Amino acid sequence: MLDFGGQYNQLIARRVRDNNVYAEILPYTVSLDKIKKRNYKGIIFTGGPNSVYDEQSPHYTPEILKLGIPVLGICYGCQLITWMENGTVETAPVSEYGKIELKARTDSPLFKDIDKKSIVWMSHTDYISKPPKGFKVIGKTNDCPCAAMENADRKIYAVQFHPEVTHSQFGKQMLHNFLYEICGCKGDWVMDDFIENTVASLKEQIGDKKVILGLSGGVDSSVVAALLSKAVGKQLTCVFVDHGLMRKDEGDMVENTFTKLFDMNFVRVNCKDEFLTALKGVKNPERKRKIIGKKFYEAFWGEIRKNANEAFFAQGTIYPDCIESGKGKAATIKTHHNKVKMPKDIKFIDTIEPLRDLFKDEVRTVGEKLGIPKELVWRQPFPGPGLGVRIIGSVTEEKIRILQDADAVFRDEMAKSGYEKELSQFFAVIPDVKTVGVMGDHRTYEHLIALRAVTTDNFMTADWAHIPYDLLAKVSNRITNEVDGVNRVVYDITSKPPGTVEWE
Ligand code: XMP
Repeated sequence: MLDFGGQYNQLIARRVRDNNVYAEILPYTVSLDKIKKRNYKGIIFTGGPNSVYDEQSPHYTPEILKLGIPVLGICYGCQLITWMENGTVETAPVSEYGKIELKARTDSPLFKDIDKKSIVWMSHTDYISKPPKGFKVIGKTNDCPCAAMENADRKIYAVQFHPEVTHSQFGKQMLHNFLYEICGCKGDWVMDDFIENTVASLKEQIGDKKVILGLSGGVDSSVVAALLSKAVGKQLTCVFVDHGLMRKDEGDMVENTFTKLFDMNFVRVNCKDEFLTALKGVKNPERKRKIIGKKFYEAFWGEIRKNANEAFFAQGTIYPDCIESGKGKAATIKTHHNKVKMPKDIKFIDTIEPLRDLFKDEVRTVGEKLGIPKELVWRQPFPGPGLGVRIIGSVTEEKIRILQDADAVFRDEMAKSGYEKELSQFFAVIPDVKTVGVMGDHRTYEHLIALRAVTTDNFMTADWAHIPYDLLAKVSNRITNEVDGVNRVVYDITSKPPGTVEWE
């Protein structure tokens, strides 16, 4: 795929991989020679935000269309092909945005097995007013006289819409058609190939140098750790900062996994006490987040500074992190600190991000294949500030203990009942209140535990989960019986919005 800067570009690569065909994304600045050498079966020109007539807009040598390799242009890519082949691209009298009806010529191999009329996702202000010579229009909409075109002899295809987004009803089939009918791909690529290629290229890139990785115990950094361990073994040092705000026994689980199952240097920085001291008496959620972030930064870089010379720095960045960090100006609801800022005085050879093109579920598949235990690979999201944002009000040793125990009961019951599969995320919270209860003949005045469970596919919005009453009753009974210091359990029935998933 030749990348012209569109927002869905990784999604196109993802859809290609879903078809068991390997895809790599190259910047539009890559040389034609490099493309020639790689023996590609097909080339996709991606979308992009520009207009082909802008001076600044990304272009490519028209020679690429003469290599005899099948090409599919998408959105900007479609206009670029038109421009390269001397057709006409102009500002459209009516720009199209959203779901639009496409009338397609289903005798084109690109549109094999799709309906003559279907919905596609459009997002453009320029359009092709005159296709280039030798190109036939194979799709139109009410406002777009050339929404798709082909030069079947030269195997060049172009669509103005976005087949890669799910709103395009037959988008999947169109990409499948391009790959199989037009490029002649066989569909024999699997994730094992990703692992093999990545390990080989990591070996080559790292050579005999060292690599340092910050391991959080989350899925992404764990998978990077396993890949690097496979590639360079003991040249890898993983630094795991245990701030004491992990779930029950989690720090030990991470340590056991990576010291027993993988070959690497593993450094656990235990700094619970420093975190507790810094958080003492602090109740404001944003201040707590900031303090935890700052302390984490100090502990992490303090340790890493010792090993930083002549080393690579690896990160578990995955594709959604890249788009989110590029999004810019959204209001700060909560300060997240996943992407650790680098101190200016540390000079690494380079940064390594082997998962930056993958989506979460692909990362989990890689993790399973690398032999990371299931409970780690399928771990639900856990906020960077850990239990610090689930302990409302000030953080104390006692509240951490109570919360860890209550949360462990909740997790145990959800796992035993199998209900955890229905949930996107679930956990216990300890609000900053005590309530009156009765135990035997005695009055009690103890902590309250709130249970939070949500279903969502994107975490931007979420529903509270309708856990069966009997199951909730079991969890509540066990918590009040087994966890010292708790006499009441409540269930949070707030969606997001207006609530957030975490309480702070
Ligand atoms: P909210 O509470 O914002 O949470 O609705 C959405 C998702 O993000 C997780 N979360 C965090 N993850 N660092 C993280 O890595 C953070 O500071 C953080 N705060 C919230 C939360 O657990 C949920 O999955």
